[in-house]
Amino acid sequence: MKIVILGRGQIGSALRDALIEHQILYWAEDIDELTSSEIESIKPDAIINAAGKTDLKWCEENPRETFRCNIEAPTGLYQRITAINKNSSKKIRLLHFSSGCIWDGPYDEDANPFTPDHPARPAAYYSWTKAACDLLLLAESAENVAILRPRQVYSSLRSPRNTISKLNSYSRLVATPNSMSSMEIILKTVRHCISSKTDWNGIWNIYDKGITTPFEVGKILAQAGLREMPVVLDKSELDVFHKPKRVDTVLYDERFEQLIQPERIEVVMKRTIEEYKL
Ligand SMILES: NC(=O)c1ccc[n+]([C@@H]2O[C@H](COP(=O)([O-])OP(=O)(O)OC[C@H]3O[C@@H](n4cnc5c(N)ncnc54)[C@H](OP(=O)(O)O)[C@@H]3O)[C@@H](O)[C@H]2O)c1
Repeated sequence: MKIVILGRGQIGSALRDALIEHQILYWAEDIDELTSSEIESIKPDAIINAAGKTDLKWCEENPRETFRCNIEAPTGLYQRITAINKNSSKKIRLLHFSSGCIWDGPYDEDANPFTPDHPARPAAYYSWTKAACDLLLLAESAENVAILRPRQVYSSLRSPRNTISKLNSYSRLVATPNSMSSMEIILKTVRHCISSKTDWNGIWNIYDKGITTPFEVGKILAQAGLREMPVVLDKSELDVFHKPKRVDTVLYDERFEQLIQPERIEVVMKRTIEEYKL
């Protein structure tokens, strides 16, 4: 298949390196530069949007550019795709990266985990833009778009964007329940959404099965000899100095668990940290 990947960050570059069974066009320009005529000449089977402004503090300080990149540009792109699809028997798919951070709430078995149709509860401007874009894409047409919501992405690559690198660098870590998403499970979901003939569109929460905490991950990193054993940081203390607020989000998605069959977080995390160590 012919796939266009937008976004040259952590996820976009990992997809480019992994999806070698496909013909990849790794887009170097702005999302807005992927015009209708460009799309018509490339004739892709799918476009993956892993581009966006992701630094939460930067997003608060630059709301207009964040709005353009995280809302206007992706919805404009999908409008162009929809117009092309109307006159073509071959439908181009859009796989758009949203985020599990559109929700914030301490884990409560009765009130959450958050399911794909749970109303958004954003705690930062960044997450408002992600939630708003999802709704606008679905309002345009739910038919040819998959909205992918990972949370705290990690991989074996040493990069400052990798959640493992972040958790390795803080001496104290909160022990609040959260979901995390390995690059492996993101790839598995993307492959499904590219190739499945039927059940691929709509919203997907993406996570490794089960619940972990930043403190638990810190312990595994210490056991692997990568850091000192972490000390617990109280979440209320973190909320005083961490602006915008760090969210707690536990995800659940019945369709995702049935079709994608995520591995347990303890297993994937240990394996990934061993690879990270090398
Ligand atoms: N990593 C995570 O933990 C995580 C979790 C949940 C959801 N997500 C979502 O997944 C997507 C990809 O995340 P990531 O971790 O790969 O982010 P990333 O490392 O920050 O990469 C995003 C890339 O998009 C580029 N970009 C921003 N605006 C653009 C535009 N208008 N046109 C073209 N490129 C643009 C950025 O360039 P500049 O650096 O120049 O801005 C950056 O290279 C994002 O939408 C993010 O919200 C990520």
